[in-house]
Amino acid sequence: MVAKSPAASCDNSGVPQPGYDAMADLYIETFPSPYATPLERHLVAAFADLVAQDPVPGVVVDIGCGPGQITADLAARGLSVIGVDPSREMLRIARRDAPTVRFVQDDAHLGSTELADVDIAAILARFSLIHVPPSVVPDVLAGWAGRLAPGALVAVAGQTIDSDEITEFDHAVAPAWRWYPDRLSDALSTAGFDELWRTVSRPDTHHRFPAVHLVARRR
Ligand SMILES: C[S@@+](CC[C@H](N)C(=O)[O-])C[C@H]1O[C@@H](n2cnc3c(N)ncnc32)[C@H](O)[C@@H]1O
Repeated sequence: MVAKSPAASCDNSGVPQPGYDAMADLYIETFPSPYATPLERHLVAAFADLVAQDPVPGVVVDIGCGPGQITADLAARGLSVIGVDPSREMLRIARRDAPTVRFVQDDAHLGSTELADVDIAAILARFSLIHVPPSVVPDVLAGWAGRLAPGALVAVAGQTIDSDEITEFDHAVAPAWRWYPDRLSDALSTAGFDELWRTVSRPDTHHRFPAVHLVARRR
């Protein structure tokens, strides 16, 4: 069952995120590296290697790219990438710090006209789909499936929960939900993706909650 949130925002129109806009400078000061642990870095590297190993034409879209550090990392790994984020201020920092990488203001729906003609090879949504209300996630995933060719990869990461539920948590910046990994996998499957692998890491000094990284392939 999905825990209801009276404060949940349903803003998925691609308009700026006021919380992330206000926190953008503090965010990059607090997280000068996007990888809190070696595992996190290696999971993104594993995704990048998989994309490169079995290429699908198009660009990798880093959805909810924030200050663009991982978008830049993917570019440095040789992938053609676009970073997408609804926060104008996050994008300002991303463009400042990674001036050779393309960034577009949009949200997880990828509905902006700037992205309409972009062929998408793969999608990474790292700690960003958590901000999409659970009732909206199936629509977002169906949209991704509609943009991706068979064989294309998606990677989703976020805070997770050990019990079989989806629950809102007290994220410092914006409404956010933790998904039980099987629920996430089921939602991806319903949209047309088959899970390839997942990791679930335990809370540590950097993470209050377990975190899931899940990679799936468009069938
Ligand atoms: C915790 S940051 C993660 C940044 C980056 N992906 C990383 O892993 O370091 C979450 C980002 O998701 C973005 N975001 C919030 N709501 C979103 C939505 N509906 N669609 C896409 N991105 C969203 C925020 O603006 C913010 O930049």
